[in-house]
Amino acid sequence: MMKLVIEYAYTRTVPVTAENVESLLSAADQFNIMGIVRLCCEFLKSQLCLENCIGICRLTNCYHCPNLQQTAYTFILHNFEELIKVSTEFLDLSVDELKGIIEKDELNVKQEDVVFEAILKWIAHDPENRKQYISVLLSKVRLALMQADHFMKKVKMHDYVKDNEDCKPIIINALTAMYDLSANGPSVSDFVNPLTRPRLPYAILFAIGGWSGGSPTNAIETYDARADKWVNVTCQEESPRAYHGTAFLKGFVYVIGGFDSVDYFNSVKRFDPLKKTWHQVAPMHSRRCYVSVTVLNNYIYAMGGFDGYTRLSTAERYEPETNQWTLIAPMHEQRSDAGATTLYDKVYICGGFNGNECLSTAEVYDATTDQWTFISPMRSRRSGVGVIAYGKQVYAVGGFDGVNRLRTVEAYSPIANTWRTVPTMFNPRSNFGIEVVDDLLFVVGGFNGFTTTFNVECYDEKADDWYDAHDMGIYRSALSCCVVPGLSNVGEYAARRDYSLESLQTEVKYTSSTSTLPV
Ligand SMILES: *[C@@H]1O[C@H](CO)[C@@H](O)[C@H](O)[C@H]1NC(C)=O
Repeated sequence: MMKLVIEYAYTRTVPVTAENVESLLSAADQFNIMGIVRLCCEFLKSQLCLENCIGICRLTNCYHCPNLQQTAYTFILHNFEELIKVSTEFLDLSVDELKGIIEKDELNVKQEDVVFEAILKWIAHDPENRKQYISVLLSKVRLALMQADHFMKKVKMHDYVKDNEDCKPIIINALTAMYDLSANGPSVSDFVNPLTRPRLPYAILFAIGGWSGGSPTNAIETYDARADKWVNVTCQEESPRAYHGTAFLKGFVYVIGGFDSVDYFNSVKRFDPLKKTWHQVAPMHSRRCYVSVTVLNNYIYAMGGFDGYTRLSTAERYEPETNQWTLIAPMHEQRSDAGATTLYDKVYICGGFNGNECLSTAEVYDATTDQWTFISPMRSRRSGVGVIAYGKQVYAVGGFDGVNRLRTVEAYSPIANTWRTVPTMFNPRSNFGIEVVDDLLFVVGGFNGFTTTFNVECYDEKADDWYDAHDMGIYRSALSCCVVPGLSNVGEYAARRDYSLESLQTEVKYTSSTSTLPV
């Protein structure tokens, strides 16, 4: 190590490897050679995975590498569900370390039973010494958010829990909170009580722009799926847009094409969700209102649309590194107001309007051959349709068939090249937002044939059923949704969780929601 340190003094470089990194970091730290410390930390950061993240995080307790520590800890919190399945380091956590992890709002778990199972797994590694900690750990589980029957059968009746006196008050409090929640609906006080406080979402759904009250809007709302709440994050300075597309790629949200009631846009704007800044990037070759957008292998694809004169069959793709749009092969059909998504490295585009009729046809694009191929047509004509990849299939949701706004849903299996019928939505809609968050398919707003709506519902593939979700604050159609995962400032886009008890006394209770969303 001394040899490497001296070499570094002359050359300012040092070969960091998996074998030498720990000793090198230790030596560099001892002699206070921050350049080497930095190189070691960068190396460790690049190696972070489920199997080693806890060890790397521990290592940072001994040395000064705050950035690596933060990254490793966040990695643990974000990947907790997968980590507990494979990590052997997890079993060696101290009770305080485990408690520290599972009490965090940032812990990324869709259901609280995952946390309880993790505790059981940790105790099972050394039951005699560890079962005494059940009450300390149990109090960090958001017990009242569990499914009631799961809580009764799996938690309340568990031997560790039954045998521990200190668990009794926790169980009683959880039952009370659970009862309040189902009798009175969610209230802001849920955010203070550690048994009912929702975790922070890992991925945030953005609902951007659209048509509201007869004019385009610049509204942006974000959806916190863990709390089932919308947050208004509208940026007043931004101009309104409707009938555009949005995409998330490499840290940025792109807003593409669209219409503001005067101009049909070829312009593209990009939003940095960390800095909250907007920048214009290279414009598309064509003006595209009613455009369909998706992301495949680090390119954004923009297809079809209406340029103010004709419905387009052309398509193009954007590469962020070069800030350039490049035309790709045109589609077989002119399509405006179609829907597009990506599944298994291919782009799918379904339905739309060709200037004469609403389309039931759909095509798939293979980027390796630059070719479009027709797939089986949908069962309905659908324009203003929501299209999204979900559970290994392409879903086509709602839309307009030329006569009615549709409630119907169908899903395409690429293997069988067939469409099947999926349960219908509660509400008919076209020109709405569609995205998948926490393994649920959300449809957001849209036009129902009479009015624009703020209604939101979600489909759960496992239950094969639709649920009501919380309405947006702003009613609108022709909006576009995208999902942004892993934000370090997620709290700025999520429902507030920092209510204090005092502020609650002056706060009005939220109107009780009819939501049956399984959060
Ligand atoms: C959302 O926020 C914007 C900007 O702060 C504000 O102008 C608008 O009225 C808000 N909308 C709603 C429905 O609260």
